Amino acid sequence: MTNTSDKMIIVSGIQPSGNLHLGNYFGAVQQFIHFIEEGHACYYFLANYHALTTIRDRQRFLELTHNTAADYLALGLDPERCAIYLQSEMPEVCELQWLLTTVTPMGLLERCHAYKDKVQQGIPADHGLFAYPVLMAADILIVRANRVPVGQDQKQHVEVTRDIAQYFNNSYGEVLTIPEPYIPESVATVPGRDGRKMSKSYNNMIGLFAEEDELRQQIFSIVTDSATLKEPKDPDRSILYAILKLFCDAETQAYWADRFRSGGLGYREVKQAIFDKFMEKFGPARTRRAELAKQPEYVDEILKRGAQQARKVGLPMARQVRDAVGIRNY
Ligand code: TRP
Repeated sequence: MTNTSDKMIIVSGIQPSGNLHLGNYFGAVQQFIHFIEEGHACYYFLANYHALTTIRDRQRFLELTHNTAADYLALGLDPERCAIYLQSEMPEVCELQWLLTTVTPMGLLERCHAYKDKVQQGIPADHGLFAYPVLMAADILIVRANRVPVGQDQKQHVEVTRDIAQYFNNSYGEVLTIPEPYIPESVATVPGRDGRKMSKSYNNMIGLFAEEDELRQQIFSIVTDSATLKEPKDPDRSILYAILKLFCDAETQAYWADRFRSGGLGYREVKQAIFDKFMEKFGPARTRRAELAKQPEYVDEILKRGAQQARKVGLPMARQVRDAVGIRNY
């Protein structure tokens, strides 16, 4: 990017709640990297406050947070060109969350799917889960973000953020920047091994950093129909094709689509192709990840630096919001 007036502020949060999978990569990380490469000011944080709504094991939580940071570094979030930090290093988001709750209608949160789905299944929900979108709004608004790259499942939460920011601005003036979600059409939902959305909760993932044997097992267990080798197959109804496509440019997609349709293509061959392409794409990141596992202090150092960068924009914003509502900053 040469024209600095086009420079945007980008933010996204990552839940440190488990091992990263293909869905995380194509649904989010790839977009994170895209914005870094375009030269925008990028803030990517580990949403550890949010993750507390699901994890209540101290040791595991500490490990997951650290490991997820290492995963993202290995995937190519360059700490020289973006801020990577822990949400909890800017506790001002919790204060901002409170200020935002005072302008947030109950109905807005009652409609949010994370909470609504749970209640509909008859599972009691904690207040943390209910208030979750307001904390997310605080994360976004505190760095004055313009764009929020997220997966399809988070679109509603970014829309809620916009609504909350507008309610706030209606009362207090144009204090908050209204952000937009960024979700490219082509990768909005990555299918899992069973064809449903790839998700930890469905246990249908293909892990980015799984051991090679496990990875092979995951890829070779992608669900297929019982068509014989000879039969022509419809690529658009194949989970294998949908996953293979993620790794292919338009020309290569056309090549495979054609081979599906012509018959004579066996599913084993496609699975092997996915495995090979996966290794080609993620091999370097997997090597880096193994190296980072040996340098925990380096990861901590990055998180510390990232927090300093984030606070540089976040703390003045927090003060500005306090001032806007009539809280004195001494
Ligand atoms: N709720 C998001 C998720 O589960 C994580 C998140 C927290 C987030 N705060 C955010 C994403 C702010 C984008 C912006 O994936």
